[in-house]
Formats: sequence, structure tokens, C-alpha cells
Amino acid sequence: MHDLLVKLYGRADVRPDIDKLQAEGINVRKAMAYEKHHVVEWVMETFGTGWASECDVSFSNHPATCFIATENNKIIGFACYDSTAKNFFGPMGVAEQARNRGIGKALLLSALDAMSQDGYAYAIIGGIDSAEFYIKTAGAIEIPGSSPGIYRDRLK
Ligand SMILES: CC(C)(COP(=O)(O)OP(=O)(O)OC[C@H]1O[C@@H](n2cnc3c(N)ncnc32)[C@H](O)[C@@H]1OP(=O)(O)O)[C@@H](O)C(=O)NCCC(=O)NCCS
Repeated sequence: MHDLLVKLYGRADVRPDIDKLQAEGINVRKAMAYEKHHVVEWVMETFGTGWASECDVSFSNHPATCFIATENNKIIGFACYDSTAKNFFGPMGVAEQARNRGIGKALLLSALDAMSQDGYAYAIIGGIDSAEFYIKTAGAIEIPGSSPGIYRDRLK
């Protein structure tokens, strides 16, 4: 597991990716505080307790640092930042049946855009098994010596 670094300045506009999904009935947007239990429960059921815990913490930021993708008022994907560590992106995930439609990319780029607006110049994507998605969609590069990173001595 390595960490990745992503440049946040000079990025392309994320709006076209969001507009394309919206035309297909999928909304990618910031999660609201009143949606916390829906989102955290969905992350728990879909991806397990570790990611649900991190997602929960993202709702303790104000405003929440969590993006969601919805279709017919149901959640189908999420992406958080500033959770386990400041300046860290993640976790993120898309429901299996909704993958390969550009939703993961739109969630990732929306969160990176928000991190840039929050004042970060770079984002760290922590504890990645497979970097390919992030290299392709966000131009991420591996941080040398970042394994093991902060996700060590974990409770089991
Ligand atoms: C990784 C994940 C978020 C991608 O979501 P997605 O909605 O299927 O991704 P997209 O449709 O937006 O894909 C965007 C591009 O990345 C590519 N891509 C998607 N998943 C990929 C992967 N695992 N490896 C390499 N490339 C990938 C797509 O082919 C697409 O390429 P294109 O623009 O040339 O068509 C999703 O597969 C997932 O939830 N996986 C399980 C959880 C996980 O691994 N989360 C990330 C670790 S925190």
C-alpha cells in the first residue's frame, strides 16, 4: 500500500463530467449534514466498518468533506477527504452495479476541486492498493517511501 500525490492547481474544470452524468439522471454533489446517517450506513453495508468510520469523521468537518453520487434519490457512490488525516483524499467507492459510467472520476475530481478551494496545493491519496485509476483520472504519482504509511498497526 502506497500513498499518491496529486497536484491541485491548474486542473481542468470538473463541470463537464458532472453535467454529463446529470443528463443521465445521476447527481454528484456534496453530502449534507442531514444525510449523514444514510451515507455512513450505506458505506458500512457496501464497503465495511473502516471506511464507514472515516466517512463518519468527514461529517464532523463543517461543511462536511464528503461527496456523494445519487440516482433516484439513492446513494450509488461516495468520496471523502480530510478524514483520517488532513490533506488526505479518501476513502471513495462506487456501487458495483454503477461502475464504469464515469461516477468514480466525477466524485474524485469534485473532491479534489473542493480541496483546492479549501486552500490545498496538493492532495495525498492514502494507502492505495492499485494506483491505476488515480494515475489515469487525476495524474497521481507515487510518493517514494510511503509504504507502510499512516495505516499501520491497525486493530483487527
Ligand atoms: C475505483 C472505483 C471508485 C472506480 O469507479 P468507477 O465509477 O467505476 O470509475 P469511472 O467509471 O469513473 O472510471 C474512470 C476511468 O478510470 C478507469 N478505471 C475505473 N476503475 C479502474 C481501476 N480499478 N483501475 C484502472 N482504471 C480504472 C475507467 O476505465 C475509466 O477510464 P476511461 O475514462 O478511459 O473510460 C470503483 O471501481 C470502486 O468503487 N472500487 C472499489 C473501491 C475502491 O477500490 N476504491 C478506491 C480505493 S480508496
